[in-house]
This record gives sequence, structure tokens and C-alpha cells, in this order.
Amino acid sequence: MDPALRELLGELEEFASTNDASTDDRDRKMLNITHDTGVFLALLIKATGSRNVLEIGTSNGYSTLWLADAVGVDGLVTTVEKAPGKVAMAERNFARSGLGSRIRQVQQDAGDVIRSAGAGSHDFVFLDSDREQYVDWWDDLRRLTAPGRLIVVDNATSHAHQLVDFTKAVEATEGYVSSLSPIGNGELVILKEG
Ligand SMILES: C[S@@+](CC[C@H](N)C(=O)[O-])C[C@H]1O[C@@H](n2cnc3c(N)ncnc32)[C@H](O)[C@@H]1O
Repeated sequence: MDPALRELLGELEEFASTNDASTDDRDRKMLNITHDTGVFLALLIKATGSRNVLEIGTSNGYSTLWLADAVGVDGLVTTVEKAPGKVAMAERNFARSGLGSRIRQVQQDAGDVIRSAGAGSHDFVFLDSDREQYVDWWDDLRRLTAPGRLIVVDNATSHAHQLVDFTKAVEATEGYVSSLSPIGNGELVILKEG
């Protein structure tokens, strides 16, 4: 990784740690993935040669930077966020990172984006937003994910209680294999068999 990007990620980690401890208002928290989760996502993207990533839940763009670095120069990360203040923060961080050309920001409700995405349009999906909606998104998530590709769900351990129905739906669907990794807040890795 480029040293300047490593430094920016470290700065964002320090900012989020101080910021999130200073408020009880969830809308003001960054709620970023852990550093280890960033490494894990990057490893999965590089190992699978994924190039067209969909991220649900940008916040200030910390996780997006890990994804955009991992997809390489030909890759594109589409990242979805509904909160205007977070979109603006992320935009500034993307400009600083030099990875802006690999990132497409969408300010919209994720459900609408997921419903309108084309079949097989993404080869890696990262879910980090409104967990209780994931079960309603499952049919469309399956459709937009290309065969043989991965969907990764953050907070699968820390907020397992909010993912019970989603996890049951995944396990009940033919042609999908999933595994829970104890990295960070728990990453549920789902393979759409190809
Ligand atoms: C946990 S944070 C994302 C953290 C980010 N992935 C990171 O690690 O840097 C979740 C974000 O999802 C956004 N969000 C929640 N529900 C959403 C929805 N239905 N559509 C779009 N964004 C949503 C919230 O505004 C919040 O910024």
C-alpha cells in the first residue's frame, strides 16, 4: 500500500476513535470497520480478482478506501450513503486519497440502489448499513451478485441478533455457501456458487 494512503487511513482511525467516543448520537459517529477488517476485505478482493465492488454504507469513506485500493487501477467501487453530511466527508477523504477515480459515490437509499442494480452487475458486495433491512434485500442482492462471487456482511458477531432472519434466509437458499469469520466485528462471507 502507498505510504500516503496508509497515513490517511491511520489519521481516519484516530479521528473515528476520538469522535465516536465523544458522542452518543449514532448519526454523528463514523462507525468504521476495524483495521483488521480492512485488511481482510482487501485480501478477499485481491484473491478473487474482483473489480466491480458495491459497498452499502459509506460513512466517511474509511472502508471504501480499503476497497478502492484493493480493486486496482481498472477497478470501480460504487459506495452508497444516504446521509448528506457523511457523503460530503467521504468526498473530501476520497479527494485526499488520490483514489477518487476508482470511486463512484451514490447518495440514495440503499434499498432503491439494490433494487435497480443490473443482474450480475457486481463481483463483490460489502454490506455495512441498516442490518435489519438485509433480509428484505436478499433477493435483489442475489440477483446483482455475479455467479462465483462474494457478499461480505460486517457486524455479523457484534450485532448477530439483528441478522438472525437474514442469516436464516442465506442458509435456506440453494447455491450459497457462507462462513462466519471472527475478524473485527465478525464478517459473514457468502459465496454465490458459480
Ligand atoms: C456502519 S456505517 C458505515 C461505515 C463504513 N462502511 C466504514 O467502515 O467506514 C453505516 C452507514 O450506513 C448509512 N446507512 C444506513 N442505512 C442506509 C440506507 N438504507 N441507505 C443508505 N445508507 C444507509 C448510515 O448513514 C451510515 O453512515
